[in-house]
Amino acid sequence: MIRSLHEMTEVATEEKARGHTIGFVPTMGYLHEGHARLIDECREEADVVIVSIFVNPLQFGPGEDFERYPRDEKRDSRIAENHGVDYLFLPAVEEMYPGNPSVSVHVLNRTSILCGKSRPGHFDGVVTVLAKLFHITKADMAYFGLKDAQQIAVVKGMVDDLNYPVMIRPVPTIREDDGLAKSSRNVYLTETERIEASQLIRSLQAGQQLIIDGEKNPANILNEVKKYIKKHTNGSIDYVELWSYPALKEVTTIDQPVIIAIAVNFSNARLIDNLILNHY
Ligand code: PAJ
Repeated sequence: MIRSLHEMTEVATEEKARGHTIGFVPTMGYLHEGHARLIDECREEADVVIVSIFVNPLQFGPGEDFERYPRDEKRDSRIAENHGVDYLFLPAVEEMYPGNPSVSVHVLNRTSILCGKSRPGHFDGVVTVLAKLFHITKADMAYFGLKDAQQIAVVKGMVDDLNYPVMIRPVPTIREDDGLAKSSRNVYLTETERIEASQLIRSLQAGQQLIIDGEKNPANILNEVKKYIKKHTNGSIDYVELWSYPALKEVTTIDQPVIIAIAVNFSNARLIDNLILNHY
């Protein structure tokens, strides 16, 4: 377990000097099988596996769940060990953000929609912390879940624009047996909400089925998904949107790969899910 930024960089430099490739899995902890899948893919490909756990205050807005975000270091280190992680990196907020910064990373593209719209500043916080973590860990490859599909698109944009020598590896969404996407925030759901939450993937599948049946009009597809969520859950819809993927541009007819993405607020948890579809 490494806490110091300096030590992490030293270790990474030594590993590089030995000719080892470095795979990196950034997380905010409270690890579940979704994270584990990223770690497993990283283990397959890279010589050295670094996992970071850092609940990044910069990516939480006022009134969001930064303070109550679930944390369990002991359990996380056990999971990391079981999955063959070489270095677990747990930096302190004070060392990551010691004072008034002189530079910030600001995302210019793809943030006026989806979670970027609902969570202003969120993706600036994400790319700022990743810009630092990629340097500190000297990552050659970094692994991200498609559950946060917009995050992957935004991070790819940063890596391309700022010439980071990091390959971004997307990993499919891991789900519970009933289809609910695994998330550290699922623990906030009440018993009834937990049952309803399994309907979210079905709402996306209802939209997918329309496309398979030949529907080309995004508005009709979105209506179907919204109708399904309203009928089967008591959650309140934050957004239901359809965009091209990975560009995240407007689509007027289904003639390219698209993403249908949803965010639904339950009493204490905001859940997101999406399907990326290639039926056209
Ligand atoms: P966190 O929510 O902890 O997620 C860490 C990584 O795990 C992300 O790449 C996310 O997409 C992936 N992940 C989460 N649930 C998943 C699931 N059910 N299946 C597959 N992958 C899943 O995302 C963040 O942290 C932060 O924004 C971070 C990138 C660490 C920057 O602070």
